[in-house]
Amino acid sequence: MSARSFPPEFLWGSATASYQIEGGATEGGRGPSIWDTFSHTPGKTLNGDTGDVADDHYHRWQEDVEHIKNLGLGAYRFSIAWPRVQPGGSGEFNAEGIRFYSDLVDGLIAAGVKPVVTLYHWDLPQELEDAGGWTNRETAYAFARYARKMAEELGDRIDVWTTLNEPWCTAYLGYGSGVHAPGRTEDLAALQAVHHLNLAHGLAVQQIREVLGDAAKTSITLNLHVFRPDDPSSEADQGAVRKVDALANRAFLAPVLEGVYPADLLENTASVTDWSFVLDGDLEITKQPLDVLGVNYYSTARVRHFAGEGERQQADGHKDSAGTPWPAADDVEFLPQPGPYTAMGWNIEPAGLTDLLVSLRDSYPDQPLMVTENGAAFEDTVVTEDGVARVHDVDRVAYLHDHVEALGQARDKGVDVRGYFAWSLLDNFEWAYGYDRRFGIIRVDYDTLERTWKDSAHWYRRLATTNTLPGVDEVSPA
Ligand code: FCB
Repeated sequence: MSARSFPPEFLWGSATASYQIEGGATEGGRGPSIWDTFSHTPGKTLNGDTGDVADDHYHRWQEDVEHIKNLGLGAYRFSIAWPRVQPGGSGEFNAEGIRFYSDLVDGLIAAGVKPVVTLYHWDLPQELEDAGGWTNRETAYAFARYARKMAEELGDRIDVWTTLNEPWCTAYLGYGSGVHAPGRTEDLAALQAVHHLNLAHGLAVQQIREVLGDAAKTSITLNLHVFRPDDPSSEADQGAVRKVDALANRAFLAPVLEGVYPADLLENTASVTDWSFVLDGDLEITKQPLDVLGVNYYSTARVRHFAGEGERQQADGHKDSAGTPWPAADDVEFLPQPGPYTAMGWNIEPAGLTDLLVSLRDSYPDQPLMVTENGAAFEDTVVTEDGVARVHDVDRVAYLHDHVEALGQARDKGVDVRGYFAWSLLDNFEWAYGYDRRFGIIRVDYDTLERTWKDSAHWYRRLATTNTLPGVDEVSPA
């Protein structure tokens, strides 16, 4: 059997997010974000970790661009910290913060790497949260003004403009279960956030196109959930899948790609809200032509109808809390999945990625796709060989290998997937899990901030530079 190969134009990249890597939290005129507030609140993150220093990318970005270049990547996906370029989220912009990203973009381009930018990867300016955050419609308009300014400043140097990263997490983990910033636990707030995020996306795409014209490539990245019914022959379990699919997937896909909210979503959540926060004309705004839909994929979920007997299982892969990320879905339970698992406790199922990409193509045949995040946390150990530090992250190499193969299988079925981004370039601040969970293909020593390529980085460089899937043992340094 010949090795799987990809066309030369296929985009290999790696992804990061501002709060997870930058540090420099109070430098260069950056204002506080909801993640500063949240991580500094006792009990919110593992070990009380914060992003104050993180990977110190704010000072070491040139070294990081060197790593991206040496990896042979065609693209780098990073996010802009809104409070770094506009400290209060409205009003004055901060020239020093804008310059930081402008220099980074120039550095990437000089290294032959396409910048794929995300405008919002969860670090909302705290001042906007104080005014209601994503429950407040005004936040969507503020976001559009910020997006416009970035389009003016960074212009045609950006390859792909992604408005939002995983609005599911922002809405349901931030305002529903409260395990993410701002830590609110209200069903209504979560659903308001869903809509205002969709609206913000549409308004921002309009602004970017107004500034840059149709040449601007626009995108949104969703963490679409792959739900499996516990008993596929059970009507009730299939109903459970439909219910959570509406909340998690169609609540974003439908307004963004079709300009509607699914009728079953509105019906199922009627006990929480009548959705009167969706105003006339909003759904024309949310639906904007998208050059590429970003898909983040890590694992699958198994659900069944909960008839109310015994304790409801909630193994949905997210931390337990007083609130829920599944408003008005008390009759659905999440069952533990068969292994193997990553250090996050997430099950490893590459076929889920193929299934997801194929089902998206079936629903939206003309929509080009890109896998904007995929990767795994494992407990890495460092060994020293001939005086050189090595990380033999066998599990991560296997995870990446099997998922790239799964992506290839979707392409075999004719799905238009144009790129793949490994999460993450560097070990970093993994939100509520702090620095305890390592996703990087490059190790970061949090005492010295030194970067060390793991075997997965060597493996990924081979893939990116040959467009051919290397075997899992092809990890020797170049
Ligand atoms: C995704 C986030 C990303 C990272 C990975 C592990 O949900 O977009 O920032 O935390 O999970």
